[in-house]
Amino acid sequence: MTASGKIHGQWSSRLAFIIAASGSAIGLGNIWKFPYLLGENGGGAFVLVYLACVLGIGLPIMMAETLLGRRGRQNPINTMATLAGQAGASRIWRYAGWLGVLAGFLILSYYSVIAGWSMAYLFKMAGGFIDGASTETARQAFQELKDAPDRQLIWHTLFMGATVVIVSRGVSDGIEKVTRLMMPGLLLMLLLLDIHAVRTEGFAEGMSFLFKVDFDKLTGESLLIAMGQAFFSLGLGMGSIMVYGSYLPAHVSIARSSAIVAGLDTAVALLAGIAIFPVVFTHHLEPGMGPGLIFETLPLAFVQMPGGTLFGTVFFILAFFAAITSAIALIEPAVAWLSENAGLSRQRASAYAGSACWLLGVGTVLSFNRGSDLTLAGRNFFEFIDFLTADIMLPAGGLLVAIFAGWVMKREHSEEELEMGAWYCYWRPLIRYLAPAAVVIIFLHAMGLL
Ligand code: PFF
Repeated sequence: MTASGKIHGQWSSRLAFIIAASGSAIGLGNIWKFPYLLGENGGGAFVLVYLACVLGIGLPIMMAETLLGRRGRQNPINTMATLAGQAGASRIWRYAGWLGVLAGFLILSYYSVIAGWSMAYLFKMAGGFIDGASTETARQAFQELKDAPDRQLIWHTLFMGATVVIVSRGVSDGIEKVTRLMMPGLLLMLLLLDIHAVRTEGFAEGMSFLFKVDFDKLTGESLLIAMGQAFFSLGLGMGSIMVYGSYLPAHVSIARSSAIVAGLDTAVALLAGIAIFPVVFTHHLEPGMGPGLIFETLPLAFVQMPGGTLFGTVFFILAFFAAITSAIALIEPAVAWLSENAGLSRQRASAYAGSACWLLGVGTVLSFNRGSDLTLAGRNFFEFIDFLTADIMLPAGGLLVAIFAGWVMKREHSEEELEMGAWYCYWRPLIRYLAPAAVVIIFLHAMGLL
């Protein structure tokens, strides 16, 4: 029972939490976004800054978010309100919970569209579309998909439907079962693709692109992008980890579990880069293609290589698994809130949240075709939502979590919840000073104010 008297789900074990949280963290952010951001922001230096953001900002905030969730044991909005009450702080803090629920919701609206592209490609690849196809056919396929709102809508609907079905089955029956099945498969497929990449001609070039640091290529904006990506990839600042933490049994070590999840997430992002760039360079393709990297550039490589149909199919199954285990985490805070506060059954809560999110996703679908002229702050609808969430709302949400856990919550409470012994002395300055200062500095720098 929670403080509010409602029955709240619980993971069956520590491993179940680690798998589900890794499922949330490892997603299109690793397989699609990290590689294309890396391509656009010049490679090695971006990787280094990204790693620094994960270690110095992401990990301490992940621990803070999990601890707030476990202590509050409710959806993010109620958790923030209850914990603020306990700390004698204003209930305004519940808006930090709101910010998170809203960010998850906005992200899922476009995430489902891109995941839909992966499903479309999965079927294309498995159907042998690249067998004997020319590079021109492969290039056109992506353009055709982007130009066809109806086809994108069908895939978007299927993906959102699958997400709703899983989430409506609940924490241990739905989320836990699906992630337990898919995550090992995902890791296995990625390793297979990596083994292939090691044997390509472009391996050395790919590795040097990934790991050779050239700071001249870094700008203020790319620092912000790296930080936003760390939040996005770890799934922070939006209540997902908070709500997953709220299902965490007592006495599971938050520090150790968070470190494992952050480590796995980072490893998968790097392994995805290692699987993709050598193949891109082997076929003399352009790494800085933006969001089309895995849908446009990579299939051009698959067309030209032996076994392309097999590798292409495996790659898109991997992307689909990664996407769905993250999508359920994106929608869970809204579902938990609707079922705990609005008195809806889990099924209804999932269906309502999914439908509203689906509708918003139509905006993203149209931003690639009929609505591409419609711009906000110089960005189309998809780019705007992505910028608003990843570069503004997530760092802001993370900043609030850090301030709350570091300054508002009583020291005894965080110390008791984290149970990290002497290590607590390292976490505390990170969450009180380093993480908030870094978020603010990077943000002001990117805005040209510093
Ligand atoms: N971390 C996921 C990814 O890298 O694709 C995206 C995500 C999932 C973000 C869950 C936030 C979240 F709550």
